[in-house]
Amino acid sequence: MDAATNPYTPGAGTQPRALSGRERELDGFRVLRARLTHGLPERGIVLCGLRGMGKTVLLREMARDARDEGWRVSFVEMRRGTDLRDALTAAVLEQLAGLSIRERALGAFSRTMGLVRALRATIAPEIQIDVDATDLLTVGRSLEADLGELLARLGALARDQGIGVAFVIDELQELDAEGLAALCAAMHRVGQEELPIALAAAGLPSLPGLLAEAKSYAERLFAYPQVGLLPDDAARRAIVEPPRKVLGDDAPAIDDDAVERMIAFAGGYPMLLQAIGKHAWNRATGNAIGLADVVAGEQDAFDDLSRELFLARWQRATPRERDYLLAVAGAGGSCSSAEAARTANFGPTTAASVQRNTLIAKGLLWAPERGRVAFTMPLFERFVLARHEHEPAH
Ligand SMILES: Nc1ncnc2c1ncn2[C@@H]1O[C@H](COP(=O)(O)OP(=O)(O)OP(=O)(O)O)[C@@H](O)[C@H]1O
Ligand SMILES: [Mg+2]
Repeated sequence: MDAATNPYTPGAGTQPRALSGRERELDGFRVLRARLTHGLPERGIVLCGLRGMGKTVLLREMARDARDEGWRVSFVEMRRGTDLRDALTAAVLEQLAGLSIRERALGAFSRTMGLVRALRATIAPEIQIDVDATDLLTVGRSLEADLGELLARLGALARDQGIGVAFVIDELQELDAEGLAALCAAMHRVGQEELPIALAAAGLPSLPGLLAEAKSYAERLFAYPQVGLLPDDAARRAIVEPPRKVLGDDAPAIDDDAVERMIAFAGGYPMLLQAIGKHAWNRATGNAIGLADVVAGEQDAFDDLSRELFLARWQRATPRERDYLLAVAGAGGSCSSAEAARTANFGPTTAASVQRNTLIAKGLLWAPERGRVAFTMPLFERFVLARHEHEPAH
């Protein structure tokens, strides 16, 4: 088939032509917005899932739905290496500036700008700010207090104008403990004041634990839907619908056995579904995608996954960390920390806990429960074992 019209979308954060199987989560966010609009309480949403499961594309769809409903939306990605707290406060400030200008409520805005100064965030230069100096005295207490104050003022402005504001935050696990605590406290406050501020965030499965450590009430503050493998019917739609969406009636047919083979090969893993769709399409030469095209594309699909997800992270691991990863891979991608330490020949478990912790910090491992570790990427064990076969570490 023509690669130019290939409708499949493997790649981090690449929006699929058919986002399938996530209706419940989208609905959950719709209900949250509706309840806040009515002044009713509802928990924010924190999507949790392994890499490549579709958290980012789901968040983007949620953001789009909210915008379509007239909500003001800030999409923030917590990218490592940037000042994450600034990113958060800048998003709040941007919304404040927007609402204030809309209403010309410069009185309220200038008071808020005192907080802005304290947070040292950047703001669009074209906005004229008349800072009330007395206000500066009351700010700069702590990130937690300031962010709460900012969000509360934003929420009050939004309520007065009859609109809602949504913060959509990706990779939230990257924010430090103080930042997470501030976010929890601020969301708690706007919840108590019944203000129309909605939160939808996403992160690795470690995120609920990090939030609970930051604030014990985080468990009650947010709902934590799991973004996991797609069930077969959703996986089928992810394969069958994109050609029709892109080419309409000119879309080529996909043989039933080819569709079933793709579903079985990907095992419901969205990233792999897109990759196998792409390669089967590119392999097909007739006027339909057949079983042989799928089989021929399987290795390429896995190689795509390796390049997209695995390789850079593997290369960032030290030789000792790779030993640890190999031990976890040998156990099938998840095992007890003690077993990993033993297999990797680390001696006392305490020595291994250094590698364990750095691998968790690098986002390759997470702890599903106390004393256990698991990969954050499905199929990573297959990559690690193949890698080891080709280039044994020692
Ligand atoms: N519901 C879905 N239906 C079809 N394809 C999907 C779906 N969700 C995700 N995908 C595809 O899966 C891939 C991964 O999606 P995405 O980048 O959103 O995952 P992620 O969970 O954010 O991963 P990471 O943790 O690495 O950021 C993309 O190629 C995307 O097009
Ligand atoms: Mg993502």
